[in-house]
Amino acid sequence: MGSYDHELDALLERNRTWAAGMTRSDPTFFARLAQQQTPRYLWIGCSDSRVPANQILGLMPGEIFVHRNVANVVVHTDLNCLSVIQFALEVLKVRHIIVCGHYGCSGVRAALHDLKLGLIDNWLRHVQDVRNRSREELQALPHDEARLARLCELNALAQGINVAESTLLQNAWARGQEVSVHSLIYGLDDGVLRKLAPSFDKPEDVAERKRELGW
Ligand code: CO
Repeated sequence: MGSYDHELDALLERNRTWAAGMTRSDPTFFARLAQQQTPRYLWIGCSDSRVPANQILGLMPGEIFVHRNVANVVVHTDLNCLSVIQFALEVLKVRHIIVCGHYGCSGVRAALHDLKLGLIDNWLRHVQDVRNRSREELQALPHDEARLARLCELNALAQGINVAESTLLQNAWARGQEVSVHSLIYGLDDGVLRKLAPSFDKPEDVAERKRELGW
């Protein structure tokens, strides 16, 4: 009978070391943060443990509001994601919404190859919709790794479009709120973020991008 409590104990010890170090370098850091958060950014990314928003952007606690799910999917009926976007827009008043995909995404890979993983297949159906919309472009690529890389990009673009087409963004722009939506992709092998397309600052930007993609 093994107990794994020592693994949790080790995590809690790491936390105490971190908190003490933060307090040493900035004695009022936690007291200030406890008062309020005023992040400028909302991050919608993949749950993948290799793509932690704060660390790859070099941001501190309090600087970015985060929502993550498998394959960074934004569905127009997902109350969880929509609630995050609404809170970020209307309460926190973030200036940027970043939808970030990453190369080598296992969720995207499963969607690309119709892998059967269980319940999650239903969630990844949304990525398959993206695959099916760009079937010709993907089939023209020389091999599966190129197709996976491109579908990771197309998925981040598609989910950025979903954010921009949500009633939340459409209403925010209609009332004159300044907020931009960006689609980025992260390289697991070099740690670098790349912009996939010009940002959306207004509804017309979305229509233009969809025309370019043939969607
Ligand atoms: Co992923």
